[in-house]
Formats: sequence, structure tokens, C-alpha cells
Amino acid sequence: MAESLHIKNKETKEDIVMSGAMDETIEWKEEYAIGNEMVDREHRELLRLIGLIMAAAESDQCGDAVDAAFGAFRRYVDRHFQDEEDLLEAAESEHLPIQRAEHRVLKQELETLWTSELLGDETKIREMAVWGKQRLLRHFLTTDARAFNDFPFREKEGN
Ligand SMILES: [Fe+2]
Ligand SMILES: [Fe+2]
Repeated sequence: MAESLHIKNKETKEDIVMSGAMDETIEWKEEYAIGNEMVDREHRELLRLIGLIMAAAESDQCGDAVDAAFGAFRRYVDRHFQDEEDLLEAAESEHLPIQRAEHRVLKQELETLWTSELLGDETKIREMAVWGKQRLLRHFLTTDARAFNDFPFREKEGN
């Protein structure tokens, strides 16, 4: 069965197609570390919170635990993005604008996904995990990795 989800980003009008929902495990691996202690700690926590949403979905019949877990996740996403932006701003990093822009898009996608009435709860939870992997984790490994592996967090050459 082909699993894919289309969501439209309100700001960019971009269609985002997510697929590959069959493998929904999302666990921290050491290879995800980008080398900044605070950022890595928060990334690890974000993946853990996605796992909690999925665990709540499996055990909860009325959805309250799922909503609570999602609320905790969303608050932590906001906090994490703000922490990164504060860090980059304090360091006068040239990566701040791209981070701000991507964070805004990711928050909108998350909101769109969660408030979509087209999706049943079960599908929604599964797609949350896919979003975590295909959108959030990808941001960690590309945009975040570039920002925190560049000056002034790292020297331009070697370390
Ligand atoms: Fe991040
Ligand atoms: Fe980021």
C-alpha cells in the first residue's frame, strides 16, 4: 500500500509530499549528533517526544494522552527553535536568517498536519512520525549541522 500525505504550506504554497510511512520508528542515533551539546540534547528530546506521542496513541482510547503528548512536543519545538535562534543571534551567525525561515515553515507544517481534519487519528499519528523523520530530522542534519559546524561554533578550517 502506497502511503503518502500531501500538505500545502500556507506561506510558500509549496506542496509537501511525505511518504514512506511504513517505517515509523524514530529513535536517536549517535550519528545524528551535530556536535553542539545543547542542540544535540534538545534534538534527542524532540525525537523522544515524538516517540511518546506514538506510545500514547497505542495505549489511549480517548485521545487525551495523545493531545497532551502533542502539546508537550509542540511546546518543545517552539522552545528548541527559539534556543537555536538565540544562540545564533548571540554569536552573530550568518546562519540566523535561514534558520528562522525554516523554523517558521516547519512550525506551520506541524500545525497544518495536526489540525487537518481529513486525517483520522491513527493516520495523523503515523504521519507525525513521518514528518519527524522526513522534515524535522532532515532539518537537524542539514541546516542545523551547517550552522553549528561553522564559525564561530567551529573554526573555518579543522578544529
Ligand atoms: Fe534544531
Ligand atoms: Fe534549526
